[in-house]
Amino acid sequence: MSPMFVPGPVDVHPAILAAQAQAMLPHRSQEFEAIFQHASTRARQLFGTQERVFIFTASGSGLQEAAVRNLVQERLLSCVNGAFSQRWREVALANGKEAGLLEVDWHEPIAPELVAQALRRKPYEALTVVHNETSTGLQNPIAEIAAAARRANPDTLICVDAVSSLGGVKIEMDAWGLDLVLASSQKCLALPPGLALAAVSERALQCAEGVPQRGWYFDFVRMERHRLKDSTPATPALSLIYALDAQLERILAEGLDARFARHSALAQRVQAWAQAAGFELYAPPGFRSQTVTTLKVPPGMDVKALKAFLLSRGMRIASGYGPLKEASFRIAHMGETQTEDIEQLLRSIDEFLARH
Ligand SMILES: Cc1ncc(COP(=O)(O)O)c(C=O)c1O
Repeated sequence: MSPMFVPGPVDVHPAILAAQAQAMLPHRSQEFEAIFQHASTRARQLFGTQERVFIFTASGSGLQEAAVRNLVQERLLSCVNGAFSQRWREVALANGKEAGLLEVDWHEPIAPELVAQALRRKPYEALTVVHNETSTGLQNPIAEIAAAARRANPDTLICVDAVSSLGGVKIEMDAWGLDLVLASSQKCLALPPGLALAAVSERALQCAEGVPQRGWYFDFVRMERHRLKDSTPATPALSLIYALDAQLERILAEGLDARFARHSALAQRVQAWAQAAGFELYAPPGFRSQTVTTLKVPPGMDVKALKAFLLSRGMRIASGYGPLKEASFRIAHMGETQTEDIEQLLRSIDEFLARH
C-alpha cells in the first residue's frame, strides 16, 4: 500500500476493502437491517451524541445541501474562513437561501464574539461553520462558537461540517449543543468515498418538519421515518455500509481517545518538523488542525518536483486547495496513518530539500 498523505480519499485498511466484497443482501431484509442498525447506533459515539445518525449514500457536499434545505426557510448565517465554508455558502445561495456572510481572514479562526454579534443584529434560522478547514489546516473553536451563538440567539440552529475531523478529533455534539454535524467517509473514518453521515438533533428534526420543499432524497423527515425501521428511503450503497460497520469495529477497538491522541501526536510531529525545516504554517498556533497541515510554499520551492519525488517512493501529498492552490501544500495525517508512515515521509522530504 503506498501511503497517501492527502486529505481524502485516504488509505483504507485491506480488511475493510475486503468487507465490501461480501455478497449483496436485499436492503429491505432483516440481515441488512441488522447491519445498518449496528452501524448507525455505534456511529453516535463518533459524534458524542445520543441523537440519531443518518447514513446517506452521498459525499459531504450533499449533506451541506441537506442542511440548508431541511433547516432553513429563508435566512442563515454563513461563517467563512476557508474554501469549504465558502462552498457551504455557495450551496445555500444555489438553493435560494439568503446567506448572511461572516467572513474572517482565512488565517484566523471564526471568533465566537463575532458570531454572537451577527446573531444579535439579525435573526438567523441557522448558522453554518466548518470544524476543520481542510484548505487552510485550521480548526475552529466549535464549542466556544456554539456557546456564544446559543447565548446570542438560542433559536439559531448550529450546523457544523466535520468532514475532515469526525473520527480523528473529539466532537461532543450534545455537550456543545450542536444541531447538525455532517461528515464524509473518505477522511478520518478511513473508508472509501461514497457515504456521508449526519447527526441531527431532535429540535433540528422538528424544525425540518415545518420547512416546505425540503426536496426528496435528502429529506430528514423521510430519512427519520425509514431510520426507525433500520433502513433508508432509497437503495443505499450496501458495500460501503458493510465497510462502515467493520471499520467502526476497528475504530472502537483502537479506542476513541487513543485514536484522537494518535491524530494529535501526528499533527504535532508534522507541525514541529515543518517549522524546524523553515516552513510557515497557514494556521495560527492554538488553531492548527489535528488532521491536516497546510504549509506555505517558500519562494523558489518546486512543489511539483517534490510531489513527483515522493511519488517515486510511493507516497502522495496534496497541493493547496482553491485559492491557496499555488501558495500552499498539504500533508494529511488522518485515518490509518501511523507514526512510522509520517517519519518515512518527513525523511524523504528532508532528503528532497537537501538536494534542491
Ligand atoms: C471540510 C470539508 N467540507 C466539505 C468537503 C466536501 O466533501 P465531499 O468531497 O465529501 O463532498 C470537504 C472535502 O474535502 C471538506 O474537506
